[in-house]
Amino acid sequence: MIRLTIFGAIIAVFLYTYLDGNVPEPIPEQFKVKIIDAGMKTYGLTIGTMVSLGITDPLSDLDRKFADHVILLLTTGFPWGLGVDPDLKISDRTMNGVHVRMYEPMTSLPVSERPALVYFHGGGWSLLSVDSYDPLMRKIAKASGVVVISVNYRLSPQYPYPVPLQDCHDVVEYVIENCASLNIHPNKIAIGGDSAGGNIAAAISYKLKHKIALQFLLVPVLQMANWNTKSYIENAPYLSKSINSPDSICFVLNYLNLDYKYTRDFLNNNHTSAAFKASDYMDLIDQNRWLPQQFVRDKTLMSKLETRTDFGDEELFSIIESRITDPMVSPLLARDDMLKGLPLTYIATSGYDVIRDDGIMYSERLKHVGQKVIHQHYSEAFHNSLFFAGGPLKLEVGERIVQDIVDTLKDKLL
Ligand SMILES: *[C@@H]1O[C@H](CO)[C@@H](O)[C@H](O)[C@H]1NC(C)=O
Repeated sequence: MIRLTIFGAIIAVFLYTYLDGNVPEPIPEQFKVKIIDAGMKTYGLTIGTMVSLGITDPLSDLDRKFADHVILLLTTGFPWGLGVDPDLKISDRTMNGVHVRMYEPMTSLPVSERPALVYFHGGGWSLLSVDSYDPLMRKIAKASGVVVISVNYRLSPQYPYPVPLQDCHDVVEYVIENCASLNIHPNKIAIGGDSAGGNIAAAISYKLKHKIALQFLLVPVLQMANWNTKSYIENAPYLSKSINSPDSICFVLNYLNLDYKYTRDFLNNNHTSAAFKASDYMDLIDQNRWLPQQFVRDKTLMSKLETRTDFGDEELFSIIESRITDPMVSPLLARDDMLKGLPLTYIATSGYDVIRDDGIMYSERLKHVGQKVIHQHYSEAFHNSLFFAGGPLKLEVGERIVQDIVDTLKDKLL
């Protein structure tokens, strides 16, 4: 009896502490989203404890393995993921020295010129892998019939920019150059990624414009110059200890090879100089111009926005200026002429995502220069909703996001 009471008390504390995710009311399937939020917080807390006990370092191999298993547990119900699938030939190999996992739908094997999707996983250039993305990659390959090549690029901070981008680029080049032996149609090569992977995909499209048929930018990070966007302010209160945590800025610092002491400066937009804030670069990410009102829930938000431009840490900016303004890092800061000639661009954005506005603004800028864009906005989704297209915590919106990707692959490439 006493044991049961103690057990009950522990569960109560767990529920009280963790299931407080402040999930916005309009998000459906509240309970599942709270479990997801709790799962991610538990990962953060466990790693935090292990780091403080000296068992591991943040973003060590052990930390990353643990993160992969947490994602697999949440998305499949098993920490070790899925078993053999009779409908897919799954093989690990290297392409230009980079580890990839290839998913070939059995139905595609007899076909000599198959379409392919080269995919770059998310995780802030710092976490996750082909293992944690295995369920999503299987689903896309199986449902679309397209060959999927998932890239296990090296991660920051051990490998900061440009290493992750270069690894992904090398794989895409390999696929282009070896499409005959891979039985892939040279005009049916798509690339894509979510979050940091979307950032990488957008950068590669600038380099390989005419060799790519279609790019998928799913909840992408597309600029690092303004962390005071409407989506940041509007979504900061939600899922604020997991997915929308301000701590996520550390991923950007990892990628840019910067010390965590600059966290505050980034969050306050103090990382750019006063002169930069008044420069025409800011026109390229001007929210008044490129963010249609329909995407903003809080119509009074304008009054809460920082409109001062006469501040900034000059010294920090002098260190990072060349990286922040490079379209390979901030694809939204590309000038109009660079946007022309890009492949058909598919952009997915989520309503309750702090980087929602990046994808929306990119879509508007591409349309402005006459580029073909398919923009899907999921107002009730959060940043990682696409992980939950299956498994025990399957979300209706997650299923829809992945089905829309699959339908587009079939429609444009088959
Ligand atoms: C911006 O950086 C400068 C120089 O380091 C510092 O004096 C100032 O307090 C910072 N402002 C904010 C808002 O972080």
